[in-house]
Amino acid sequence: MKKKILITGSTQGIGKALATAFVKEGYDVIVHGSSSMKKAESVREEIGAWKAVTADLSKIEEIRSLRQKTGDVDALILNASVQYKEPWDHISEETFDMQVTVNLKSTLLLIQDYAPAMKEQGWGRIVTVGSVNQYRNHPELPMYAATKCAVMSLVKNIAKQVASYGVTVNNIAPGAIATPRNAAIYEDDEKRKAVENSIPMGRFGQPEDCVGAVLLLCSDAGAYITGSDLVMDGGLRL
Ligand SMILES: NC(=O)c1ccc[n+]([C@@H]2O[C@H](COP(=O)([O-])OP(=O)(O)OC[C@H]3O[C@@H](n4cnc5c(N)ncnc54)[C@H](OP(=O)(O)O)[C@@H]3O)[C@@H](O)[C@H]2O)c1
Repeated sequence: MKKKILITGSTQGIGKALATAFVKEGYDVIVHGSSSMKKAESVREEIGAWKAVTADLSKIEEIRSLRQKTGDVDALILNASVQYKEPWDHISEETFDMQVTVNLKSTLLLIQDYAPAMKEQGWGRIVTVGSVNQYRNHPELPMYAATKCAVMSLVKNIAKQVASYGVTVNNIAPGAIATPRNAAIYEDDEKRKAVENSIPMGRFGQPEDCVGAVLLLCSDAGAYITGSDLVMDGGLRL
């Protein structure tokens, strides 16, 4: 039987590249976006995915209703996030709450919702999408980085608790990736070069650079990897 996978935030960027790759791998892929069903449905059609759903992960009732829309899955990729660029002394309560809810709280609640069926069937794969900012300071991303570090801590704790059920829980940490989120930087020659100068491999990553690690973590070849963090950053954190 085909495996089912839900990839949050797969209407563009890294999530869309992951969704495209898992369709090619033969999975029933569920594309997820925040609110525009039209956008999610058009990506579903473009890449030949199985289903499209929306749920705004800043709203608890929408987080809680996601599993009813998708049913249980074999693999869960928690990729959606929000990011506000603000120095530490300008972080507002509003942006604090948004980043904590979308990036951290929804991660825990969705793992709580989807892991029981994985444990029951004795096989499951959960991958969270973190960031090189877990390792590297950025003057305008302290709160974003804090949520990504907190997710990594959850990953390690939950991985240990579900390991004996055949369920693995891992994180990936991309560096600077050319997605719509970063378009204002990589489409500006000067800004792009400044970032590329700080990357040992000398280039932005492409969304496809994040695919191999997630395919491995979700495969039987990755069955013995759990509680880990795989970094794909062209050496940026070094
Ligand atoms: N790009 C990078 O350089 C980079 C580096 C390190 C880590 N990352 C991480 O990689 C992941 C993907 O990044 P990306 O650059 O591909 O992101 P992106 O281009 O900004 O796309 C974000 C995705 O998340 C969804 N999303 C946003 N807010 C949401 C909400 N409130 N509820 C539900 N879904 C929401 C969006 O859905 P809609 O389009 O439907 O709104 C979209 O599909 C994120 O976790 C990010 O933190 C990215």
